[in-house]
Amino acid sequence: MRIIRSITEMREFRYALSGSVGIVPTMGCLHNGHMALVRQSMSENTITITSLFVNPTQFGPREDFDKYPRDEQSDIKRLEQSGVDAVFIPSSSEMYPDGFDSWVDVSGITHVLEGACRPGHFRGVATVCSKLFNIINPTRAYFGQKDAQQVLVIKKMVSDLSMNIEIVVVPTVREDDGLAMSSRNVYLNPSERRAASVLYKALLKAQRMYSSGERDAKAIIPAMTAIIQSEPLIRIDYVAVSDNAGLKDIEFLRSPALVSMAVFIGKTRLIDNIILSNSDVDTQAI
Ligand code: PAF
Repeated sequence: MRIIRSITEMREFRYALSGSVGIVPTMGCLHNGHMALVRQSMSENTITITSLFVNPTQFGPREDFDKYPRDEQSDIKRLEQSGVDAVFIPSSSEMYPDGFDSWVDVSGITHVLEGACRPGHFRGVATVCSKLFNIINPTRAYFGQKDAQQVLVIKKMVSDLSMNIEIVVVPTVREDDGLAMSSRNVYLNPSERRAASVLYKALLKAQRMYSSGERDAKAIIPAMTAIIQSEPLIRIDYVAVSDNAGLKDIEFLRSPALVSMAVFIGKTRLIDNIILSNSDVDTQAI
């Protein structure tokens, strides 16, 4: 596996390749959710490149950029064992040199949900993904459904800016009790970790209500809220039911609908979601 730290070297490596190239952009601290993206990319492309870069521009001033978990050596080992062809690990100054002053701003869908709670977050995500796409020129890019809004923002950016890249969305990977895998789960102490299992229970409640014919968001949201609030360690940031395209709040669910949430458990902010659709529902038995 090639370990590449400079944009110049990454470009040289890329342009010597033939066949399809899959990129798995990550902020490192890899878990099984990331490895599912890697496996899917490896099964669909000639070459797979993973990036490890904790992108400072997608963190707000009071967010966890400094303490975001980093473990480069174990990430490299894991990627090497999985058979990834190259890992791109740029520094902040490589990606954002002095005088950097250009941003990719997707409007509309970035102003709700995560975008409303984390102003500037998606500008940072869209900018860094554009840079990675320009540097690596992938055939396909892989993102997890856990970051549902991020997926929609990247798809919109790729479509609006005519980028010739297929965005592949991979289902959320969950722990045995249903908690979505996330690098931020390492922040949870044992009692917070136990409390976190109610998040998926609330999503499953929404799915069961939907399956038995409930379509009123005013019934579904309070039922989910009650389950989450049964855990005193958890504070809800939002629980929302939106259309899974423009992310507008909806009163009556049409398929597919995005049911999403953000909560604080102690100081840790976690997100999760499920798509309710008449054809298939993103659930897994627990
Ligand atoms: O989902 C993430 O880990 C990040 O938002 C991404 C896509 C790697 C951009 O920094």
